[in-house]
Amino acid sequence: MTGASTPRAGAEQLRSRIAAELERTRARTALLTDAVDETDLVRQHSPLMSPLVWDLAHVGNQEELWLVRDVGGREPVRRDIDDLYDAFKQPRRDRPSLPLLPPREARAYLRTVRDKVLDLLDRVAFTDRPLVADGFAFGMIVQHEQQHDETMLATHQLRAGPAVLHAPPPPEPRARAGGEVLVPAGEFTMGTDTDPWALDNERPAHRVHLPAYVIDAAPVTNGRYREFIADGGYDDPRWWSPAGWRHRREAGLSAPMHWRRDGDGWAYRRFGRWAPVRDDEPVVHVCYHEAQAFAAWAGKRLPTEAEWEKAARWDPATGRSRRYPWGDDDPTAEHANLGQRHLWPAPVGAYPAGASPLGVHQLIGDVWEWTSTTFRGHPGFTAFPYREYSEVFFGDDYQVLRGGSFGTDRAACRGTFRNWDYPIRRQIFSGFRCARDVRPEEAQP
Ligand code: AVJ
Ligand code: FE
Repeated sequence: MTGASTPRAGAEQLRSRIAAELERTRARTALLTDAVDETDLVRQHSPLMSPLVWDLAHVGNQEELWLVRDVGGREPVRRDIDDLYDAFKQPRRDRPSLPLLPPREARAYLRTVRDKVLDLLDRVAFTDRPLVADGFAFGMIVQHEQQHDETMLATHQLRAGPAVLHAPPPPEPRARAGGEVLVPAGEFTMGTDTDPWALDNERPAHRVHLPAYVIDAAPVTNGRYREFIADGGYDDPRWWSPAGWRHRREAGLSAPMHWRRDGDGWAYRRFGRWAPVRDDEPVVHVCYHEAQAFAAWAGKRLPTEAEWEKAARWDPATGRSRRYPWGDDDPTAEHANLGQRHLWPAPVGAYPAGASPLGVHQLIGDVWEWTSTTFRGHPGFTAFPYREYSEVFFGDDYQVLRGGSFGTDRAACRGTFRNWDYPIRRQIFSGFRCARDVRPEEAQP
């Protein structure tokens, strides 16, 4: 054993917290996979997605690799299936033709792995070893499963047929949350060294200076997005980047994914039910190119990732960066629309308790927000515990998304949490807000 152990009481608390998070997460996985029958579980609902049964066993396989084998140093449960559930060896479109574990076997595999993990959790010493300090590897595995749960939720959204998921509608607006917010020039701390379950790409904390900028107080709504459509935004190359325009033409884009015309208006299909598009909800299921074109049409631009994070974390009263816009406490149902509690974004103004000190609303939850920044390591980045979580994706191919969606669990969402995807993706729960430079007449004395 190396280094000092976490004091006993702290260790016992950590153990029960981890057990609760593992159990809560597995309940969500079960809900998403028990909601459909066996044929539905093994079917590929879209070439963009895996069959649900692949995600299911992949979640168990990652838990086996990192916790049973690496942390626990125990014998493999099933070494023979590692390649099948290696996301890098198996492209999504090929996954349905693999000899995957059938649903019954996949569920039994997850149960076996989990029993070993709970046994391990009872005995593990939370030493200084980076993988186990503060229960990091357990936190990483909770976040991994939650991320696949959100992916499975996106698969449900692509699935044809009647609705199988149910949830109450999100809350109604409780405050006005329109307009723009000026963020003054200055330094802030981006990233974190202290959040124990923060992933490698959120580290290290570093100081970033930003000139003053203006950011929307809320995500762009369906109402505003409809104006862009009605104004011919999809047919005007002036608003689109060259790559965006090419994609717009090749893919025949003309409205967000899952929208269709409905009389004079639009309807939006959410998990098997059509509903009229509501003007005050954040737009969702748009790709980066659509977000960028809208922003240009509106005379604005997308925020950089640093602008998003400063708006979400910087507290002007103390100069500190917080874990969340509202402070350091974990999200509750009052703060944000997270965790599949609702099945679509909440109207603007629904979460006044979640606003930042500067009055920026709904940064956390509702929709992932596209930023203009491509995915790179923070200065001083080191891959941990494996290059394949983040580092192999660094470069110009992926845009960063921030803030989490209604389908993101609180365990996989913080003011520092970073998501990334191809700029053409729109089956994810993606929206955006706009930003702009400060005009000379707005500059503060
Ligand atoms: C961070 C959401 C882009 O789903 O591809 C899951 C998370 N990494 N398994 C993804 C992830 C490995 C990742 N994203
Ligand atoms: Fe994965």
